[in-house]
Amino acid sequence: MNSRPHDSSLAHVKRFQLNRVAFYGRTLFEYLKMFHLNDIKGLKAYKILDCPTGASSFVAEACNRYGINAIGCDPLFDKDTKVLQKLGEEDIDYVIEKVSNATKLYNWDFYTSLEDLRNYRSLALEKFILDYDETRQRKRYIQAVLPKLPFGDGSFDLVLSGHFLFTYSHKFNFSFISSSIIELLRVSSKEVRIYPLQKSGSEPYERMADLLSILDQHGASCKIVPVKFEFQKGSNEMLLLRHKDR
Ligand SMILES: C[S@@+](CC[C@H](N)C(=O)[O-])C[C@H]1O[C@@H](n2cnc3c(N)ncnc32)[C@H](O)[C@@H]1O
Repeated sequence: MNSRPHDSSLAHVKRFQLNRVAFYGRTLFEYLKMFHLNDIKGLKAYKILDCPTGASSFVAEACNRYGINAIGCDPLFDKDTKVLQKLGEEDIDYVIEKVSNATKLYNWDFYTSLEDLRNYRSLALEKFILDYDETRQRKRYIQAVLPKLPFGDGSFDLVLSGHFLFTYSHKFNFSFISSSIIELLRVSSKEVRIYPLQKSGSEPYERMADLLSILDQHGASCKIVPVKFEFQKGSNEMLLLRHKDR
């Protein structure tokens, strides 16, 4: 079962795949939209994990601006600030080049141009780098590699996972994706939100029905929830997981 029918008007649009997992990230404003988080102040009561963070400024902005207890993790968080800055800049160029060759796969109402998109990505990278550099000793950014996370069961009220598991599903097998989601659920006490449900070329993830069935067997109640954000055409839903027994 795919969550929604594939948009047939895109049948002739040239698609692309991201060949490497980009060190790329979004701002808190974009996170609120893509994860359907309407009450930022309400999040103050939550402990949040962003996995993987990439070059997102969500954690930086949530902590510094709103006093939220948020932690970010990524396999690259053992690297120096300068290395991440360089990688972040290169990957903005890499992804924007790919998007520029397939603009029809995207809606241009939120980001109004490629330049606008680049400005958002550069802003996120800038805020992330500043915070990463300042807070390394405070363990706000932790090196971690899915499908295994270095956190105890139920360590976080809310776990967010953006632009990784389904975006790069052409690179990962089903077992990696399902084990990773089960791990995200293990470290959460309330809920896990995953966005988008599409691949990098905007096609829906083809094994969603199998995945939901496995997650159900692992005690997750799963809901596909509409969100008011759709840059990649069709990517206007997130996966919301809760523990059935809580
Ligand atoms: C596109 S970024 C994440 C973006 C961010 N969450 C957002 O939505 O803006 C993808 C990240 O996945 C990380 N990554 C690659 N392999 C991983 C793994 N096995 N476990 C966790 N993260 C991984 C990469 O290092 C990269 O920083």
